[in-house]
Amino acid sequence: MVYYLRSINYKMSDSNIKNEISVPGNIVMSGIRPTGKLHLGNYFGAMQNYVKMQNEYQCYFMVADLHSLTTHPDTSELKDNIFRVLAENIACGLDPEKVALYCQSHLYETSELYLYLNMLAYKGELEKTATFKDKARLHPDNINAGLLTYPVLMATDILIHRASYVPVGKDQEQHLEMARNFANRFNTRYHNVFPQPKAFNFSSNLVKVPSLDGSGKMSKSENQMATVYLSDTDDEIRKKVKRAKSDQGPQTPNSEMPEEIKNLFLLLDLVSDKETSQYFLEKFNDCSIRYGDLKNQLADDMIKFISPVRQRAEELVNNENYLKKVMKEGAEKASASASATLKLVRNAMGLNYF
Ligand code: TYM
Repeated sequence: MVYYLRSINYKMSDSNIKNEISVPGNIVMSGIRPTGKLHLGNYFGAMQNYVKMQNEYQCYFMVADLHSLTTHPDTSELKDNIFRVLAENIACGLDPEKVALYCQSHLYETSELYLYLNMLAYKGELEKTATFKDKARLHPDNINAGLLTYPVLMATDILIHRASYVPVGKDQEQHLEMARNFANRFNTRYHNVFPQPKAFNFSSNLVKVPSLDGSGKMSKSENQMATVYLSDTDDEIRKKVKRAKSDQGPQTPNSEMPEEIKNLFLLLDLVSDKETSQYFLEKFNDCSIRYGDLKNQLADDMIKFISPVRQRAEELVNNENYLKKVMKEGAEKASASASATLKLVRNAMGLNYF
């Protein structure tokens, strides 16, 4: 049983606060931007871990609508996307009774901690962030301050619950490193309030789910024909997998695998059982592989996994009242945790004048 009310040991008047604050070790936090439909990358990079962690940890998972405004200022589809992300998370097995499932903009405490952490973030390091450089290249007409301070907002999301574990895909590694830097700077300059949050995956490595066109990764808003979405129909999945990049097949036994074939095997490892991967690997190594067979198997196994999730998500997405209740209760749990952290933060910073 996971409890959301944390005991906080601090006294307003105690100058030796450092020794009074115990840093919790079992808190998990993560988020997903509602910038499009969720895909296999989101599932295997993040949501699969959410579902596994919900039984053992105190978990805060949110829809990062504020982050999406840094690149998607048009909000006409935002509400629908938020409901879909919630529905798909639940359809994948997340239980809103066990976790706090909320929407980022409902947690008002975020703005305050974001402000304090912004004073600990340097322009130079923010400009060097890989995602900032990528997004600035993609959206040259909208290089806004929110985009620059994106990692600060993300660190805020994590630190506001004093989370230690952050289940994310490989693409978020640098953001996690920055969150640790901001936490360290705060702890060193003021008092030891924050743990060191770590990117987490149940298997040892963080995951990058590749796209089907042989380059890059699956993505919500780019590369849509090479991305398999949790809402794709069986036919769409078959079409996309059939079009996946491959070649004429190996000509010599045990030859090096080209990148696009490695990607197909990586996807097979994720959705199929071990024996299936092993079977095709042996066929690759003795040059008898037929990529058509591999793709048919891959499509079958993706469909087996996605089809029930899609059906469950469709039911849930039409149940707005239920999703609103989930969001509201999630925000209440998240707010209890965030306001407790902010008391510690203000106190540590000496912003306690009464
Ligand atoms: P976002 O919305 O881009 O992605 C959500 C989660 O899915 C993972 N992911 C992938 N993993 C493997 N392969 C892929 N192809 C792939 N594509 C996406 C991401 O790593 C992520 O875990 N900045 C975050 C959202 C965020 C957040 C946070 C995350 C905001 N605040 C606090 C953790 C903690 C993002 O843009 O994720």
